[in-house]
Amino acid sequence: MPLHSTSSAAFAEPVDDRFEHASVDQLRAHQLQRLRVTLEHAYANVPWYREQFQALGIHPKDMNNLEDLARFPLTSKAELREHYPFGLFAVPMDQVVRLHASSGTTGKPTVVGYTRHDIDVWSSLVARSIRAAGGQRGDRIHIAYGYGLFTGGLGAHYGAEKLGCTVIPMSGGQTEKQVQLIRDFQPDIIMVTPSYMLNIAEEIERQGLDPRALSLRVGIFGAEPWGQQMRGELEQRLGIQALDIYGLSEVMGPGVAMEHLDTKDGPTLWEDHFYPEIIDPVTGEVLPDGEFGELVLTTLSKEALPMVRYRTRDLTRLLPGNGRAMRRLDKITGRSDDMLIIRGVNVFPSQIEEQLLNLFIFSPVHELHVSREGNLDALTVQVELRPEHSRLSNEEQHAACQQLSHRIKVHVGISTRIVLNPCHSLKRSEGKAGKVFDLRGTR
Ligand code: DLL
Repeated sequence: MPLHSTSSAAFAEPVDDRFEHASVDQLRAHQLQRLRVTLEHAYANVPWYREQFQALGIHPKDMNNLEDLARFPLTSKAELREHYPFGLFAVPMDQVVRLHASSGTTGKPTVVGYTRHDIDVWSSLVARSIRAAGGQRGDRIHIAYGYGLFTGGLGAHYGAEKLGCTVIPMSGGQTEKQVQLIRDFQPDIIMVTPSYMLNIAEEIERQGLDPRALSLRVGIFGAEPWGQQMRGELEQRLGIQALDIYGLSEVMGPGVAMEHLDTKDGPTLWEDHFYPEIIDPVTGEVLPDGEFGELVLTTLSKEALPMVRYRTRDLTRLLPGNGRAMRRLDKITGRSDDMLIIRGVNVFPSQIEEQLLNLFIFSPVHELHVSREGNLDALTVQVELRPEHSRLSNEEQHAACQQLSHRIKVHVGISTRIVLNPCHSLKRSEGKAGKVFDLRGTR
């Protein structure tokens, strides 16, 4: 069976939209055919997959309908680490034209590889994503996702070029320079993590400029969880439309799913290239659409590193498509491995952020410090006031902290200590915000 059902000419157009308006039946038939191809490819070329399938007594030929996928084994980051660096690659290294890696906080990084065709598909899907955000040929795009081993910068870059945009490859960091280039080059679109966008907005304000008066029209934000409150904050503060882009390096990089400008109702998963399932994170059982659980993705076109039932750890649910067969993702609450358990209560950092952003007195920049006091867990939320509220009296500051603590208690269900820091003293993000410090294991 050929690896591609389409010739590479199918990707000569910047945006491959043959399936964007396909019917559900057409899309499912395509997915089934592509799943068979991926399973065959993994079985034939990756010894680890072959062993796993054999151990379960299953063969790619057993893939007769979409439900059969659940019989195949799940894959996780651990397998990528175990086969570091290239052990799960399905093509000879002379066909691999690009490597990326995710740093990972512990141990070895996870390494991912791409053939020329993989890069073409990726660029085409990022181009499609930018188009979904209202971008078009001739738009200027400022890219402040980091370039390098992280997939954000180069992934966005190739897609923006493919669409015919003028790319400003700024990368992350050098915040003053970011502002200078935004002012001077007048981009229409910015692609950056939402937390770094806030940092850039602060710098714009610090320079005495009005962020709303700049040229930016749209922000394409992802690489970390962000909620509706953050959307409001970004849109209001910058006078832009804030849209959500989702992706992960193991499966490709940015552009696995993208929110549409006209509906702003959660990212559409590009289902012609990724087959989604939602599973119960504990039992592994596949859940019906609409139920919350862990997103599992199988790649449908990847050559260098096919992924069969990859456990993303991202918690969300599948929503029906809006005007198209491809389904949408609900906002990602967080990763199952980012969930904090505080005195037995499951807490996602995004829930605390939501409460913080609801009170306009506090800056969105914050840190969560988890510690152990005696035998009990304690959560401290380190906050700052917004500069315009920095002159509040001690009593008013105290009342604001109490109000935040009360909101968290009511809506999240845990007691917290709120510590107020001087304005602009907490560390600012230049990429993915690392705001959780769990000190419980380090006594
Ligand atoms: O973050 C790829 C990317 C770059 C996506 C730029 C979007 C924009 P990784 O470093 O492998 O890849 O991290 C992937 O980040 O499993 C999620 O937990 C989280 N993530 C990515 N996008 C979103 C999003 C890139 N829109 C991990 N909302 C994923 C929530 C997101 N979380």
